[in-house]
Amino acid sequence: MGAQDGGCILVTGGAGFIGTHTVLQLLKEGFKVVIIDNLDNSVEEGVERVKDLAGPELAGNLTFILGDLRNKEDLENVFNGRRFDAVIHFAGLKAVAESVAKPFLYYHNNIVGTLNLFEFMEKYGCKKMVFSSSSTVYGQPEKIPCVEDFHLTALNPYGRTKLFVEDIARDIQKADPEWKMIFLRYFNPVGAHESGRIGEDPKGIPNNLMPYIQQVAVGRLPELNVYGVDYPTQDGSAIRDYIHVMDLADGHICALQRLLTPEFNGCTAYNLGTGCGTSVLEMVAAFEKASGKKIPVKLCPRRPGDATAVYASTDKALRELGWKAKYGLAEMCRDQWNWARNNPFGYHTHP
Ligand code: NAD
Ligand code: UFG
Repeated sequence: MGAQDGGCILVTGGAGFIGTHTVLQLLKEGFKVVIIDNLDNSVEEGVERVKDLAGPELAGNLTFILGDLRNKEDLENVFNGRRFDAVIHFAGLKAVAESVAKPFLYYHNNIVGTLNLFEFMEKYGCKKMVFSSSSTVYGQPEKIPCVEDFHLTALNPYGRTKLFVEDIARDIQKADPEWKMIFLRYFNPVGAHESGRIGEDPKGIPNNLMPYIQQVAVGRLPELNVYGVDYPTQDGSAIRDYIHVMDLADGHICALQRLLTPEFNGCTAYNLGTGCGTSVLEMVAAFEKASGKKIPVKLCPRRPGDATAVYASTDKALRELGWKAKYGLAEMCRDQWNWARNNPFGYHTHP
């Protein structure tokens, strides 16, 4: 179903990192898109660039609404007078350390915001959702690769918000089988659109590896702290499953298409990862190769709460969504660098 068939998707948090890349792919697939975003961790310039990349014809299918999911008036403003075929729910706060320091903020934003969204979806008869979950729901996995039916756990308030929303969604669906929901558990999203015009633009000092490396490469930070070189891995640094954000965006299109088929019922989760593990030091080497820049590193103690190795089983997504990641480390680093060198201060022109 696309815009020509009247397919219209509400994308919460669509101005953010994964949201912008997914919205672009939705437009290209022919969907109409309405974004609601409070711009807490994004800027409207990202949405403007999505319109540019989509071209004048498709840009007309995108509407941006400034609004906050915690505010029911904002939700009424979005839903009243519109009909959505489904919701892709990205909006949320995502910094682990901040969630430990400010649990109330995280529960309020990520849980109350989502409950409000469910309430308005119900009120306006749209009962289909794709939800941004995370590999964080596997906690410190006892086995790898992580399989969707593993026992789920949370290590911090951020992780708990993902776990709770999955549980709440399952309860809502059980009580009313008209609800259809897909949880996408992202592993470590990196990279940027190949144009270098949209990408990740974190506020303040980045928490995550790739945005940090990127800021070292453009000279905004002096060196990368490598957290842990005594893990039982080939080079001592921790292993993660990095996935190109364009692969992730395409995973959302596949999930949405499945959600919109009449045969799909219930609630289910899919891992979105590559299934390959990469160590921190391997990532640094791959980025140096792609950028031609030296990334100075400082070897540091482990970061509390970090797992040794996490990567996805990708079988279920391949089997049921027909989705598989196309890009490898070289493309992730190439596109991350292309975004960084063209936008050393992200969407801003200076610090
Ligand atoms: P992001 O911060 O770039 O995007 C989230 C967007 O939601 C932002 O534009 C922000 O302004 C908006 N937002 C937050 N709270 C809101 C509210 N109450 N009302 C309206 N808008 C609100 O983050 P992202 O990396 O694009 O992540 C998107 C989703 O994917 C999040 O739910 C995140 O938890 C999840 N996720 C991200 C990662 C990752 O590493 N990037 C990994 C796993 C899961
Ligand atoms: N790392 C460094 N230096 C840094 C930043 C990170 O060495 O400056 C290391 C970490 O110790 C870890 C790896 O790089 O070993 C990846 O770290 P990230 O912070 O980029 O990602 P994480 O896998 O630790 O976790 C993040 C979120 C989780 C989420 C997960 C997958 O914090 O909540 O991505 O989406 F589940």
